Amino acid sequence: MTKKIYAVIGDPIAHSLSPAMHNAAFRALKMDAEYIAVHVLADGLESFAAEARKKLAGFNITVPHKKGIIPFLDEVNQEAALAGSVNTVLIRENQLSGCSTDGYGLEAALSEAFGYTLKNNAALFIGCGGAARAAAFHFASKGLKNLYILNRTLATAEGLCAELTTHYPGLECTAAALNNEEAVRTALKQVPVAIQCTSLGLEPDDPPPLPPEWLPQGIALFDTIYKPTALLQYAQAHGIAHANGSGMLLHQGAKSFELWTGIKPPLDVMRAELP
Ligand SMILES: NC(=O)c1ccc[n+]([C@@H]2O[C@H](COP(=O)([O-])OP(=O)(O)OC[C@H]3O[C@@H](n4cnc5c(N)ncnc54)[C@H](OP(=O)(O)O)[C@@H]3O)[C@@H](O)[C@H]2O)c1
Repeated sequence: MTKKIYAVIGDPIAHSLSPAMHNAAFRALKMDAEYIAVHVLADGLESFAAEARKKLAGFNITVPHKKGIIPFLDEVNQEAALAGSVNTVLIRENQLSGCSTDGYGLEAALSEAFGYTLKNNAALFIGCGGAARAAAFHFASKGLKNLYILNRTLATAEGLCAELTTHYPGLECTAAALNNEEAVRTALKQVPVAIQCTSLGLEPDDPPPLPPEWLPQGIALFDTIYKPTALLQYAQAHGIAHANGSGMLLHQGAKSFELWTGIKPPLDVMRAELP
């Protein structure tokens, strides 16, 4: 049998931790498979998808192509189609099937870090770009009751709330602008967990998306970034339960691995490759 090749595509892609994580799992399971990073520009997505049909066993998609890949797939599951975000493609009989494991990855990381469960619970997103969208549709599909979405651009948060409640009428969704102190502090008091989903914190000098002292005692803070962001540092210094984004990266990757191979990968082996 020939070696199975998997890939992650993005722009940029050199920094991706996914190859190390997946290749460690393939080695541990003695599988004849390899996972590679491929730099693909937006105008190269169509030809990449055509080649992938013939040469790959599956692939992941990262920033900025999670939406752009969709027109080149044969099918996309409902959750990913609603979110407009695909991070995993399965290839069977030359057919490309897209889904997203980002929401599952966040759900599993929140459970592991804080014992948090979604059903009938409340959650709050700080930021509502692609990552938050994917997670929000997953959370709604899992029976989340109350969702607060805080964003710099209020109209984007309001638009996402409207989309979510159209498809999940049981969900109560509240949008607020990040600079609306009263609304933000009120929202933060209603939830057991706040999830930082903006890109602020990727650079060392980035300010926090909201004043950290607005975080109430008793809340748990999850940052999707796996660097020590200003919010994570504040939480650490003030005894607020917190976790960085490496658990999300681990669990979304582990779910992709399982969907491709039918095998649950060794989480500890994959985790050892992450910061
Ligand atoms: N751990 C993981 O596995 C994982 C997976 C996926 C993503 N992530 C992380 O999730 C984060 C978001 O990724 P994404 O793909 O959703 O990005 P995105 O689509 O570009 O969205 C960016 C978000 O950040 C907000 N933002 C950007 N600059 C801001 C500023 N100066 N002040 C306030 N808000 C600002 C945007 O608000 P506006 O709407 O106002 O522009 C938007 O809500 C990234 O940090 C990424 O590293 C982690």
